[in-house]
Amino acid sequence: MGPVLVLAPSALLALVLMLLVPGSAGGESAEPPNQQEPLPEPPKCKVTGSLLKFAGFSPDKKEFYVNETASVSCQKIKEREVYEAVCVAEGEGAAWDLSRVPCLRCQELKAWDGRLDWTPRALTFAPGETLSLTCAEGFRPVPESVRCVEKTNRFGWNVTPVCQAEEGSSVPPPWTSPEPGPPLTTPGGSCSRAEWPPSISADEPYNKETFAIGEWVWVSCRSEQYVGRRSRIACIKKDGHPEWDTSGLQCVEKPRVSKEDLQASASSIRLRWGCSPPGPCPGWTFQGSCQLNRSPHESCKRHRWRRLSTSTQNQTLHCDGLAPSSSYHVIVYGVHAKVDRQVLYEEDILTQDGVPDAPERGSLDLSSRVLRWRPPSPCKGAILGYQVNVTGRRAYNTTFLEEEQVRVNDSVTEFQKEPWRPGTNYTVTVQALTAAGAGQELRWEMETGIAEPFIPPGARALEVHNISASDGTVFLRLEPLPDLHGPIREYQLFVAPHPEPAPNASACPSLQLRPFDPTDDKTYAAAVIPASNLTRPMGFVVGDGRDRHGLFNAPLHEGRNYTVLLRVVSRWNQEETSSCVAYDFSMGRAHLAGEGEGEGGGVLWPLPLLLTCLLLTLALALLLLLGLLMARSVLGGGGGGKG
Ligand SMILES: *[C@@H]1O[C@H](CO)[C@@H](O)[C@H](O)[C@H]1NC(C)=O
Ligand SMILES: *[C@@H]1O[C@H](CO)[C@@H](O)[C@H](O)[C@H]1NC(C)=O
Ligand SMILES: *[C@@H]1O[C@H](CO)[C@@H](O)[C@H](O)[C@H]1NC(C)=O
Ligand SMILES: *[C@@H]1O[C@H](CO)[C@@H](O)[C@H](O)[C@H]1NC(C)=O
Ligand SMILES: *[C@@H]1O[C@H](CO)[C@@H](O)[C@H](O)[C@H]1NC(C)=O
Ligand SMILES: *[C@@H]1O[C@H](CO)[C@@H](O)[C@H](O)[C@H]1NC(C)=O
Ligand SMILES: *[C@@H]1O[C@H](CO)[C@@H](O)[C@H](O)[C@H]1NC(C)=O
Ligand SMILES: *[C@@H]1O[C@H](CO)[C@@H](O)[C@H](O)[C@H]1NC(C)=O
Ligand SMILES: *[C@@H]1O[C@H](CO)[C@@H](O)[C@H](O)[C@H]1NC(C)=O
Ligand SMILES: *[C@@H]1O[C@H](CO)[C@@H](O)[C@H](O)[C@H]1NC(C)=O
Repeated sequence: MGPVLVLAPSALLALVLMLLVPGSAGGESAEPPNQQEPLPEPPKCKVTGSLLKFAGFSPDKKEFYVNETASVSCQKIKEREVYEAVCVAEGEGAAWDLSRVPCLRCQELKAWDGRLDWTPRALTFAPGETLSLTCAEGFRPVPESVRCVEKTNRFGWNVTPVCQAEEGSSVPPPWTSPEPGPPLTTPGGSCSRAEWPPSISADEPYNKETFAIGEWVWVSCRSEQYVGRRSRIACIKKDGHPEWDTSGLQCVEKPRVSKEDLQASASSIRLRWGCSPPGPCPGWTFQGSCQLNRSPHESCKRHRWRRLSTSTQNQTLHCDGLAPSSSYHVIVYGVHAKVDRQVLYEEDILTQDGVPDAPERGSLDLSSRVLRWRPPSPCKGAILGYQVNVTGRRAYNTTFLEEEQVRVNDSVTEFQKEPWRPGTNYTVTVQALTAAGAGQELRWEMETGIAEPFIPPGARALEVHNISASDGTVFLRLEPLPDLHGPIREYQLFVAPHPEPAPNASACPSLQLRPFDPTDDKTYAAAVIPASNLTRPMGFVVGDGRDRHGLFNAPLHEGRNYTVLLRVVSRWNQEETSSCVAYDFSMGRAHLAGEGEGEGGGVLWPLPLLLTCLLLTLALALLLLLGLLMARSVLGGGGGGKG
């Protein structure tokens, strides 16, 4: 029960004064004017000067009614908190209940002497309250009680009690300062500082080595090796001998933890430590934490990484689900039953780079076939560059394979290839590179359209030979063309009897596959040779009079001029392109000299020229024969002369 400050006498005094001076309390206009006997003044609690010495009352007034509450602020108390004081009825009068206002109470007796005890036990005491003191066996308290009194700037105990040894007054009071004292000669003996456990050191320097029975010293655990709360040790007499009572001591040896192995991947950290001395650190369990320190980029903090999981087993801290390329503050804590959690090891550890995400798709400019991309998020690590791989394949030519692999630096975000081959399926992949390597790929698949078949300009593969005016034929040398710009499907042969003007190669794409019609003189298709039939160089006789799949290869007319057009057709997926080559020649009569000069790709062998050649050859042969005969006769004569 909290005692209350009794103010009843002053309340009574007020009452008496009120009765002595009628109307003195009736100054208030609220009072009915015609009241004969004023009601007795209700008891009040007063805010006295001694209260205001230590605290401020709010609201700011001198008196409070019963059940009224004042807010009390303690100026002298560090926290500057506001406490509640209630005015309560006590008998006829009123009194403050200040049990919750620390600055208007005595605080619990500070037990400087470990052997001292008292009753009653409470956290605060009202002014005027007394405590009865007791001491441990063999000691008696001096004095036997203490009283809560008002001191200069607080409420406190009137005297500091001590315990004294019962037999003989020679035992000094507990030693409380590091001041050097006279050498002690106590009947019970003394304790030596040399007997202290190695885990402690005195809080303050002492220049004495021995301590009398009853003396105590504040000590702390040696922080370099031990942890634990500050405590007191006392020199006591036990079984007739002086010895240090260290039962209150709680110094625990702090394990010295050193890193034994560290493995950091892009998403995890594994730290193995060892205790010194080696082995399990007895009595200690461990906790660990990995806290994100620094991300590779501001934006990465917003990323939701996998849930961070931490485990400590076998003196190994394992943090999983970490962000790559980030700095983590790794702490190993030691947990012991007797002391607070201790930081045993800490280090900032950087996780490795992860493989980057795929670059973001940019534009593909179809006309120039420039591919553009945007860098991926930097959260997996710094982008060092890009790996661009190009693979070209053709469904119609399985041996065709075009590969290009280039690495560009991180400032390059586009790729242009020169040239993109026609009629090709291209796969382009772009991968960003970090220190961890190439990441996810950004992939483009595209097909380039076929182009006009390529006919080598210098090549004389297609040639017109041995014009036979009498047979109405012309010999055409054909050779398969490579499918450089697309698959070659067929070779179409057109014969154009010369009207005026003669058709030429530029007219070729518009030519219709029109069969020969004897009734007109128009250009006709003489034959279509599938590319599959033309796998190696071969001859084709124009005008052989054969019918091939509805196209008549009509004999040519002697004495007429012709143009033979060879149309090379490439076709792929509804797309068709072609290239042409044209040969002009004249089906000159056998006796006609100088007729049918070859044009275009054609080569012409006029008959007179052939005859001249033949004659020349004959003449040469005759000359050779003659020379041979002459040489023989000369050699023969020489040989005979000798023999
Ligand atoms: C004070 O409060 C108590 C409990 O609420 C009540 O019983 C009592 O009558 C009150 N006293 C006055 C004077 O209002
Ligand atoms: C801890 O170590 C022991 C022996 O080295 C081993 O058997 C056990 O599996 C380990 N536990 C873990 C969780 O790694
Ligand atoms: C691209 O080429 C590089 C180098 O040859 C290779 O390491 C990488 O795997 C290729 N990327 C793809 C997606 O094929
Ligand atoms: C490209 O690939 C597609 C799909 O496989 C195929 O239809 C097309 O014919 C191919 N084109 C070429 C030129 O290989
Ligand atoms: C990156 O490559 C481009 C083109 O190869 C070059 O112009 C540029 O200087 C390079 N930048 C760096 C930082 O190396
Ligand atoms: C045409 O001439 C070539 C040589 O240029 C020859 O090999 C071929 O047999 C000749 N063909 C005819 C039908 O005369
Ligand atoms: C197929 O492609 C290869 C390689 O480019 C080439 O050498 C070959 O001539 C092509 N095949 C045909 C039938 O053109
Ligand atoms: C080809 O023939 C067309 C008419 O069919 C003509 O306009 C053009 O000039 C000719 N070209 C050549 C190179 O002879
Ligand atoms: C192409 O060859 C096939 C058989 O290999 C044949 O039947 C066909 O007539 C040939 N076509 C031409 C135009 O020569
Ligand atoms: C054939 O062409 C030649 C010249 O190239 C010309 O002299 C001759 O008259 C032409 N013949 C016919 C029938 O047009």
